Amino acid sequence: MAPATLLFFLIFVQSANALNTRRSELQLGFYNSTCPDVEQIVHDVVRNRHFLDPTIAAGLIRLHFHDCFVRGCDASILLDETPSGEPVEKVSVANGYTLHGIEVIDTIKSIIESFCPGTVSCADILAFAARDAAVLAGLQHYPVPSGRRDGTVSRAVETLDLPGPFATVEQLTRNFAKKGFSQSEMVVLSGAHSIGGAHCPSFSGRLYNYTAALPQDPTIETVHAEYLKTKCPDPRTTAAEALEAQKVNFIPAAGTSLDGSYYAEMQMGKGLLASDQVLMTERRTRTVVERMAADRSKWARKFAKAMSKMGLVEVLTGDQGEVRRDCRLVN
Ligand code: HEM
Ligand SMILES: *[C@@H]1O[C@H](CO)[C@@H](O)[C@H](O)[C@H]1NC(C)=O
Ligand SMILES: *[C@@H]1O[C@H](CO)[C@@H](O)[C@H](O)[C@H]1NC(C)=O
Repeated sequence: MAPATLLFFLIFVQSANALNTRRSELQLGFYNSTCPDVEQIVHDVVRNRHFLDPTIAAGLIRLHFHDCFVRGCDASILLDETPSGEPVEKVSVANGYTLHGIEVIDTIKSIIESFCPGTVSCADILAFAARDAAVLAGLQHYPVPSGRRDGTVSRAVETLDLPGPFATVEQLTRNFAKKGFSQSEMVVLSGAHSIGGAHCPSFSGRLYNYTAALPQDPTIETVHAEYLKTKCPDPRTTAAEALEAQKVNFIPAAGTSLDGSYYAEMQMGKGLLASDQVLMTERRTRTVVERMAADRSKWARKFAKAMSKMGLVEVLTGDQGEVRRDCRLVN
């Protein structure tokens, strides 16, 4: 091996190790000795809440996604305020009134604090709760290694890392690549849109014929567009609050079963968001949609694996960050 090649090889091996360190610092059963019942407690609370309101599963899964994609899975999305006083992630356009399920995390946290004070991070609670929500919605169980620490910073401007509902395939691909996900993993994770729904402002712009330059989105199947118009009035003539009050399920007939039904909707031109339907417009992403639609159990396995991987994104471990006592406030 030439010296230059050897040097390159050593640097490569070293950086590969550095990348893996964070991953290996998370452990299955991190709280075995310090809070042995933590996963059971999270599971019980999520199950009880899900029994009363099955829409909570979608909310919890999305919270975990939005946490992990902005400064890593550090519970930054849960903060109401930070010492710096700047606007937090929670108040950004990407979050705001669309967030659902934060109070479930508050309930879990207060119970866990009474059993094992100052021990379990909010970031781990959110990762466990999202997993349990996915399982209650029909996904197979997947292991969630723990030991995440909570961050002390939350900045609304950083939610630009989250993909928006009008993103192109290229933007979506870039957003996910930035967090270590391939394009096909991006399509697999989008299958989360088999549950829950979106508020009118996230898609109503697609339904109406503004001008010749900004016409109705031609990718929406026409009968479906008429159905959606009955749910969401024209944004040009409607108050923002009225639009925000309306939410439509991704899968009109159901929407609480995490079963990959999303992909068949895409094939019928019934994607709710422009960023959903756009996956059908390029060959590479369309091919993944078709594969997932044809084999839903394969999708479920891939989705569980990708969720597990999402829970490792840029985590804080060891003595980084802190274990918050209240998920809404830094200590
Ligand atoms: C591919 C890029 C993605 C975009 C552009 C996107 C965008 C959105 C938007 C705009 C909403 C509706 C917000 C509202 O109006 O209430 C939504 C809902 C949702 N998203 Fe995504 N999302 C993406 C990927 C993901 C991923 C990776 C997950 C999780 C693994 C996810 C899980 C969810 C869930 C479960 C809901 C429903 C929430 C509820 O009903 O409470 N999304 N998404
Ligand atoms: C916790 O217990 C489980 C089950 O016995 C085991 O698989 C895991 O390795 C343990 N984790 C730690 C960090 O001790
Ligand atoms: C949309 O409106 C433009 C004029 O603003 C018109 O030329 C066009 O035919 C309309 N398209 C549809 C599908 O109604």
